[in-house]
Amino acid sequence: MANIVVNGVGTVGKRVAHAVRKQDDMNLIGIADVSPSPVLRTVLEEDAPLYGTPLYASVPEKIEELENEGFYVEGNLPEFLDMGEVDVVVDCTPSGVDEKNKGMYQEKDVKAVFQGGASASIAPVSFNALANYDEATGKDFVRVVSCNTTSLSRTLWSLDSSFGIEKAIGNLVRRGGDPVQDSRGPINSIVPVTEIPSHHGPDVQEVMPGLDITTLAVKVPTTLSHLHMVNVDLSKEVSREDVLKIFKKTPRVKLLRAEEGYSSTAKVIEKFRDKRLRYDMPEVVVWEETVETEGKRLYWIHQVHQESIVVPENIDAIRSMLGMSKRSESIEKTDKNLGIR
Ligand SMILES: NC(=O)c1ccc[n+]([C@@H]2O[C@H](COP(=O)([O-])OP(=O)(O)OC[C@H]3O[C@@H](n4cnc5c(N)ncnc54)[C@H](OP(=O)(O)O)[C@@H]3O)[C@@H](O)[C@H]2O)c1
Repeated sequence: MANIVVNGVGTVGKRVAHAVRKQDDMNLIGIADVSPSPVLRTVLEEDAPLYGTPLYASVPEKIEELENEGFYVEGNLPEFLDMGEVDVVVDCTPSGVDEKNKGMYQEKDVKAVFQGGASASIAPVSFNALANYDEATGKDFVRVVSCNTTSLSRTLWSLDSSFGIEKAIGNLVRRGGDPVQDSRGPINSIVPVTEIPSHHGPDVQEVMPGLDITTLAVKVPTTLSHLHMVNVDLSKEVSREDVLKIFKKTPRVKLLRAEEGYSSTAKVIEKFRDKRLRYDMPEVVVWEETVETEGKRLYWIHQVHQESIVVPENIDAIRSMLGMSKRSESIEKTDKNLGIR
């Protein structure tokens, strides 16, 4: 059993912690944070996903604040790490904090998984389970790439390994903020990333070196998901049926049909509201009708639930780092335990 701590219990951290709890080869032995946020309060309530998980203050000086707000705090994270019980910390803190925490993990000689908000240089491996699972094996630090990069890595890796890719162009329509981030709105604007390529293309190249990819991005006033319009020049001519066959068998890629009513990001999310806690959708949803070919050129449009897509990758990263399972076994186990089909 691998002993795991999640540091930073926000949008991604609360989901990763819950996912760790659902694995039969991992123990969630603690969560850590710095402030008595409503998220922390809720997830620790008696009928909530993290009830009973020992809570640590990420830094010693925050214990008092947490206790004053009624939290039972076991201790502070640096001292807990000194006890040598933790195999991996999954760091889900905001960008910038992760860099500072890395020094603590190094000093305490504990492995850590970082998130996509950290720069690629934080770890020797930027990770996607399909594209480079084995590269994380034995590593002390691994960075799971961002939500947008994860969706592109899954879809492009499956096509590249089946047909070869000469050039990929991703046009990204990004959500303005997560649903809880009302501090980012109200907004009434479409904001282009004026740097081309946007950082997403180079980030995909961190997990698929040698892939020729350019990404362009805009931000729009929606909170539910990102949406990508992708063009790919393949190395050979294929039919749309060939591509659909590949997408169908790629883990964590799901085809939905607009014609069945799943005709917008909101309608797709509504499907998952009816099926999943927090309407999590770790799968990349590709609209089946949008998969079209013209000779070697392929087009499609997909949807990314930014809050949950990286959760299964965090679980696989832990298994790879600790040498617990082979890639296919880990992906299968994670997906089964998280109810991903
Ligand atoms: N949200 C997404 O859509 C998404 C998707 C993929 C990847 N990511 C990446 O995941 C990482 C986390 O993002 P997020 O959206 O989950 O952020 P978030 O919702 O702001 O959660 C971060 C959590 O860390 C806490 N924190 C702040 N400083 C800390 C410290 N020194 N030690 C421990 N905890 C601390 C925050 O507490 P306070 O609330 O008190 O500050 C909060 O609870 C980032 O790298 C981000 O780029 C985010």
